[in-house]
Amino acid sequence: MSSVGKTSKLTITIRAMTAEDIPRIGALEQELFPDPWSENAFYEALAEDDWGSLVALDDGEIIGYACYLIIDVESHLTNIAVVESCRRKSVAKQLLEHILRVVKEAECEYLLLEVRPTNTGAIAFYRRHGFRQLYRRPNYYRNPVEDALVMVCYLDDA
Ligand SMILES: CC(C)(COP(=O)(O)OP(=O)(O)OC[C@H]1O[C@@H](n2cnc3c(N)ncnc32)[C@H](O)[C@@H]1OP(=O)(O)O)[C@@H](O)C(=O)NCCC(=O)NCCS
Repeated sequence: MSSVGKTSKLTITIRAMTAEDIPRIGALEQELFPDPWSENAFYEALAEDDWGSLVALDDGEIIGYACYLIIDVESHLTNIAVVESCRRKSVAKQLLEHILRVVKEAECEYLLLEVRPTNTGAIAFYRRHGFRQLYRRPNYYRNPVEDALVMVCYLDDA
């Protein structure tokens, strides 16, 4: 399944991640996160039936990606990222909207995620899209050690 959406400057295509995308995704992870996933973690996610992985493209270039996990009525947004030069152009919004459609079709009741409390941009993005804080998980992250805010979006409301 893929979808195309236009903004003033980008023509964003969303499609399923493939194994050929992973070297580029691995490089972006290194660039964008202090505690990046390994390339192997992405290969493992692709191989599992309960995982979904998407890329966002502009003019054939990967400009964003996201992964999610479905466990019965529960779903998890495990990561989402957009290259710096393409931020605030609705790339993450389109990735998230695609995931919300999929998890609703799978009859999930809610979508969960963890985020660093210092990641104020991501928290603003999640709040804008219907997520609310559930609780704080102490010392969840490494490099640097930090609590996680666990946020939820109830899919009836989204
Ligand atoms: C968080 C992230 C994925 C958002 O991607 P994006 O494509 O820039 O987000 P969008 O353009 O779809 O944003 C939609 C709305 O979310 C909110 N938002 C997004 N980024 C924001 C920021 N840095 N500050 C405040 N609000 C923000 C705004 O309401 C925005 O609408 P607006 O631009 O009209 O004001 C991106 O900043 C990123 O890749 N960050 C680094 C990786 C990361 O931290 N991922 C999350 C890990 S938990």
